Amino acid sequence: MAGVRSPSRRTSRLQLALPGSLLAIAALGTLTLFFHGASAGGQTVSTRVSGTHLTSKSCGTVNIKGVSPVANSGDPFTSSQLKCQHGKIVSYGNGAITYSNPPPSYIAAGRLLFAQTCSSCHGNEANGVDPSGHATIGPNLQGVGAATVDFWVSTGRMPAADIKAVEAERRPTRLSDTQALQLAAFVNSLDPAVPAIPNPHLAGADLAIGADLFSLNCAACHTITGAGDALAFNTNAPSIQNRQITAQQVAAAMRIGPANMPRFSGNLTDPQVRDVVAYVTTEIQHPASPGGAGLGGVGPVAEGFVALLIGVGGLVLICFWIGERA
Ligand code: HEC
Ligand code: HEC
Repeated sequence: MAGVRSPSRRTSRLQLALPGSLLAIAALGTLTLFFHGASAGGQTVSTRVSGTHLTSKSCGTVNIKGVSPVANSGDPFTSSQLKCQHGKIVSYGNGAITYSNPPPSYIAAGRLLFAQTCSSCHGNEANGVDPSGHATIGPNLQGVGAATVDFWVSTGRMPAADIKAVEAERRPTRLSDTQALQLAAFVNSLDPAVPAIPNPHLAGADLAIGADLFSLNCAACHTITGAGDALAFNTNAPSIQNRQITAQQVAAAMRIGPANMPRFSGNLTDPQVRDVVAYVTTEIQHPASPGGAGLGGVGPVAEGFVALLIGVGGLVLICFWIGERA
């Protein structure tokens, strides 16, 4: 009996040992993947970035808000192209969007300009602290990334006109495009962060996908026609039919999420952002009005109301006129 039982035990041990070791290998594999993923947020460029133009192996430390596992989702370490120099990110992205930092030679001019036009509200070191150690009116800007600074300055929101306003509105710009880049270079040099400034390549955009993504992600606040609408607490989502808003600013708004607008990072890939930008800068900013007068594109309910008012109102007046004569 014993002679019969022992081989059967041996096979059962073998049967157990095989899946066991497979499991162990799988677990080890997942662990290494996990640690690899975790370290990707910090420092060096890993080999999974293809098509890189690396001049230095390390890309330095950079603030990334919400590292995404999705490829080409707007951060340097998921991008298919990444270029660094002297441990600093120069640019990253792919065929849909290229994100780039202003050249380091802009930093000195930016520092001077910042001291003159921004430091009174944001502190000399852009850290939201004045020389006596008190909090400034404006928030800490360190670690916001070049795109945030460039967006707020190039849309005329900064330097702020009215510090009591609940929302800094878009205004005619007070500084030039180059000055906006100089300020972005200076602020980003204090605590390097992303997103860098996006440059969408609209040539390959798909407007149908853009329209779908717009109605899903943007229409709730900006309305389906982009005319804008009121939000809570006296704030509003501005009209994006405004043709002054450039493709670059639409892409930046999505990646940085200014003020009360959410940041679309990770959940939308660069090609998807590019498609939305193309939709906004064509169909939203230059709408075709096949039904006749566009009525300012305020939306179907308001436009229907105008039709009712003029149509039914006109009929009522005619009825009165006929009644009067009778
Ligand atoms: C009069 C005061 C004032 C001046 C001057 C000023 N800011 Fe601001 N800044 C503010 C306030 C207040 C906010 C917050 C506004 C908001 O959230 O709507 C702000 C917000 C910002 C933001 C957005 C920060 C974020 O985390 O989203 C940026 C970027 C910025 N300022 C850059 C600048 C730059 C660059 C200058 C100089 C050209 C400047 N500001 C000048 C008061 C000022
Ligand atoms: C929760 C509401 C909300 C959603 C959703 C939203 N936005 Fe916004 N958006 C805002 C607000 C609020 C502002 C103004 C921010 C400020 O005061 O600086 C804004 C500003 C903008 C601007 C800058 C306009 C200007 O005048 O400079 C653009 C462009 C923009 N949004 C595009 C989009 C796109 C594209 C989407 C969808 C992917 C989107 N927004 C989704 C609320 C929203």
